[in-house]
Amino acid sequence: MQRRSSTVNKDHSENMSYNQESEPFDHLLPNSKSKKGSYSPLKITLITLFSISIIALLFSNFLFSPIKTEKMTSKLNEDRVLLPKNSKPIHYDLNLTPDLEKLTFSGQVEISLQILEESKELTLHSNELSINSVILVSDGKSDQINLSTLVFDKKDDTVKIPLTHPVSPSSKVSLKLSFSGELNDLMAGFYRSRYVNSEGQEKFMATTQFEPTDARRAFPCFDEPALKATFSITLNAKSGLTALSNMDVKEQKVDSQTGLVQFKFHDTPIMSTYLIAFIVGELEYIEGYTSGEFNGKPIRCRVYTPPGQKERGRFALEVATKALEFFAESFGIAYPLPKLDQVAIPDFEAGAMENWGLVTYRTVALLVDEATSGSRAKQQVAATVSHELAHQWFGNLVTMEWWSELWLNEGFATWVGNLAVDHIFPEWHSWTQFLVDDYSRALTLDSMRSSHPIQVPVRHSSEISQIFDIISYSKGASTIRMLSSFLGLKKFLDGIKIYLQRHKYKNASTNDLWAALSEASGRDVGKFMNLWTQTIGYPILTVTDSDDLKSINIVQNRFLSSGNATSDEDKSIWWVPLLLETSFNSTTPSDDVLSERSTSIQLPSDYSPSENSWYKLNSGTVSIARIKYSSNAIKQLSKGVVRGEINVNDRIGLISDSFSLAFSGHSKTSDFLTLLQSYKNENNLVSWQEISSRFDTLLGAWSEEPLNVVEKLRKVQIDLLMPLMQSMGWDPKPEEDSLELRLRSLAIRSLGLSGEPSVIKEAKARFNRFLVEGDVNSLQTDIRAPVFAIGVLYGGQAEYDVVKSYYLNSTLPMDQRLIALNALGSTRDPVLVQKTLDFVLSDQVRNQDIYNGLVLLSLHRESRKLLWNWYKSNYDTLAERYRASMSSLGILVKICAGEFTTHEMANEVEGFLKKKDSSKFERALDQTLEKIRGKADWVIRDRADVDQWLASQ
Ligand SMILES: *[C@@H]1O[C@H](CO)[C@@H](O)[C@H](O)[C@H]1NC(C)=O
Ligand SMILES: *[C@@H]1O[C@H](CO)[C@@H](O)[C@H](O)[C@H]1NC(C)=O
Ligand SMILES: *[C@@H]1O[C@H](CO)[C@@H](O)[C@H](O)[C@H]1NC(C)=O
Ligand SMILES: *[C@@H]1O[C@H](CO)[C@@H](O)[C@H](O)[C@H]1NC(C)=O
Ligand SMILES: *[C@@H]1O[C@H](CO)[C@@H](O)[C@H](O)[C@H]1NC(C)=O
Ligand SMILES: [Zn+2]
Repeated sequence: MQRRSSTVNKDHSENMSYNQESEPFDHLLPNSKSKKGSYSPLKITLITLFSISIIALLFSNFLFSPIKTEKMTSKLNEDRVLLPKNSKPIHYDLNLTPDLEKLTFSGQVEISLQILEESKELTLHSNELSINSVILVSDGKSDQINLSTLVFDKKDDTVKIPLTHPVSPSSKVSLKLSFSGELNDLMAGFYRSRYVNSEGQEKFMATTQFEPTDARRAFPCFDEPALKATFSITLNAKSGLTALSNMDVKEQKVDSQTGLVQFKFHDTPIMSTYLIAFIVGELEYIEGYTSGEFNGKPIRCRVYTPPGQKERGRFALEVATKALEFFAESFGIAYPLPKLDQVAIPDFEAGAMENWGLVTYRTVALLVDEATSGSRAKQQVAATVSHELAHQWFGNLVTMEWWSELWLNEGFATWVGNLAVDHIFPEWHSWTQFLVDDYSRALTLDSMRSSHPIQVPVRHSSEISQIFDIISYSKGASTIRMLSSFLGLKKFLDGIKIYLQRHKYKNASTNDLWAALSEASGRDVGKFMNLWTQTIGYPILTVTDSDDLKSINIVQNRFLSSGNATSDEDKSIWWVPLLLETSFNSTTPSDDVLSERSTSIQLPSDYSPSENSWYKLNSGTVSIARIKYSSNAIKQLSKGVVRGEINVNDRIGLISDSFSLAFSGHSKTSDFLTLLQSYKNENNLVSWQEISSRFDTLLGAWSEEPLNVVEKLRKVQIDLLMPLMQSMGWDPKPEEDSLELRLRSLAIRSLGLSGEPSVIKEAKARFNRFLVEGDVNSLQTDIRAPVFAIGVLYGGQAEYDVVKSYYLNSTLPMDQRLIALNALGSTRDPVLVQKTLDFVLSDQVRNQDIYNGLVLLSLHRESRKLLWNWYKSNYDTLAERYRASMSSLGILVKICAGEFTTHEMANEVEGFLKKKDSSKFERALDQTLEKIRGKADWVIRDRADVDQWLASQ
């Protein structure tokens, strides 16, 4: 599944800012202290940048329930709540009839079983289904089960079926159930999604989202990933509608009794329930074929959309045809199904879902408009499509044995998805983008006490959704990147081939992956990787220079964003490639590995300390660690940055480390501000993303400080960015690539929202030309997001209304409309703030998009309070609306509370939610509180240090 990437990106201290989010959704927010209503640009004090992600994917949860165990042992499995082991499914014959008018469905399923031990009862999963009849067929004899004897367990979503006669392993047994249910509006199970049909009327389609545990909402089944079976699926639909499932249609005929068209699909290969999908609705499609070079034959790929949008699927189709060949080549196994469909679903909770052969996406994660969508939107689509298609092998063909191994699916798909994007679009430098999208965010979250190990014990299915988070995805992917870089890409992929070949159509675990990689590389991979996947956190390496500056000493300790780890928390000794490079040889980093608490290494013999010499660890920012250098070493490195000797991945790593060490108290915030001064000539987009997101976190934490301090900090940001803005100008140059277009957007946003008058003036002029005068060519797509936000921020009711009607124009591509929805949160007028808060709950904003309207509100000190009050008064409504959602309640608490900066507010948030049932977002809540308190401590600790630094400038 693809996370809806942080919708929460305003979350600087987690550096949520960029992942998967597109710039179109990034915005800065001013924090005005001006009195209500009287808003003048000059009074804007603070800003914070953030971005939302929409596109992406995510399942944002960084939320989860606390996991006590730091180190997992193999005993982990013992207390899993699983179905009884007396039987398992072999084949499902499933027939479903959705009623798109009544919004209900009915179905029959016959499940052929293998009986593993003599049994008097059978238990399977079922949730919110009415079971209308149950028949046990044993060796040809049918037995109607008395319905009032069924035992439903609401907590475990199971139904226990007592049998009149016991069944034994020698019998040929199947269960026939008929059932019915509601096509719900929860974006889970078999659900309804609203779309506009070809006549312009609002209609519903029926679609599915089963991962992790919602197949049981659509049909009674054995809903655990390792319980694989084959499926033959039949859908009955009104004539004129399209019906899709994992496989292609085998037979299609009209049922003379009902008049419905019966679509019978080919049998699936053996597969897990969470990957089943079916869709009925009015859809159109475009299609293409892969080259067939590595798949043995061309594979038919289609992109389906609601009426009128199919052309927007062109880009995703192209990516899919290339990615399917790339993966067949990389994995050495052909795509196993006859076709691949990708479908844009208007209501969709995650970013996308890898159902085998029928991948579903939220609209913005699949469709782009060549003419109007921004560059970042396209890159997001490419990333999402690649991620989902990687799952067709990694996850679908070979499946994790249980949800505690979720990282295997998601971490790997994230890493290999990026590999595919880099292969198809080398000009995007996606491994550098990876550093802000994944690496940096993973390290930020994993420095919190409320983080968790990559391999996480999952006992009950209710705990599963909270692990679709940054740790499983981004730390998982960063771990794989570190390992693949150490083993070498070729050996690594050889190991993956062994793993897939060996476990195809079966389940597998992390140990199976290590075993295959060990075989391919000749190293004991498990030995050095187990700690990485089984332990929370990662190390800080403290580096000291020897007196003669010829060698260095390195000590590792657990890194915590709240300061030193206690000795209990600091027991892990990680295995860390050191990757030492120097000013004399920056092309080939050393192969030293740290595997003890501390070590001393000689600097290379060609290194001699001088005025312009430097050395750096973690070359390429590959190893998962923070590095703290001596003040002399960091000074030498910043001189290297100024002279342009440090490559971009290393520049990003330096900023990331320096900021994190300031936040945690391992070094001073003034050191971070000083280091930033060496980035004045920086011209790389990703490096600026890292800088902006970190600087915005600083501004956010300082947002409640005296106005003059905040203004001086804003000035620091303006001074950093102005040279860049002046050299780029407002209009794209013909030779610019997409990264440069996005860099301009970033600069305008930061400068405009921090109050740079020249930028505000130009933004307002362009806002008017585009939105008021209707000159559609007057605003290049990549800068629409910041211009809309600046327009609303410095405008009034009129600007607000024009942006709102842009959002409401349903003919525009979704990524563009969401830019407008985001900008509605940019207002500082309390009356308009209230309008935005009311609007997001109206039926003009889909449940999945509510965050877009809220996220900017959280960044301003006054609207933040209105937002929190709104959250409190609407708590019950929100809890009900998002009850089946994996991540929404967690995202909401992060947005509505996470920007506070004081201990008092942390206590207030904690006090309010203590009285509620926060079990579904416990982890998000813990992380939110830890973050607020971390900011509060940071400001108290470094307030004087920052004042002093500002005074010295
Ligand atoms: C079904 O079971 C219930 C409770 O055990 C019993 O009262 C009822 O008579 C049974 N009905 C039939 C048709 O056997
Ligand atoms: C999972 O895979 C292992 C190894 O192939 C196998 O022994 C086990 O039976 C599988 N689990 C299930 C539930 O099928
Ligand atoms: C961590 O511990 C070291 C050594 O005791 C001390 O010098 C340093 O100030 C501590 N840092 C923090 C952030 O508490
Ligand atoms: C850099 O170091 C590597 C490994 O020690 C060596 O093979 C390479 O030749 C060196 N490059 C230069 C330019 O000295
Ligand atoms: C919606 O957008 C389209 C395309 O830009 C435009 O032609 C149309 O006039 C807009 N409709 C409204 C009601 O603004
Ligand atoms: Zn995924």
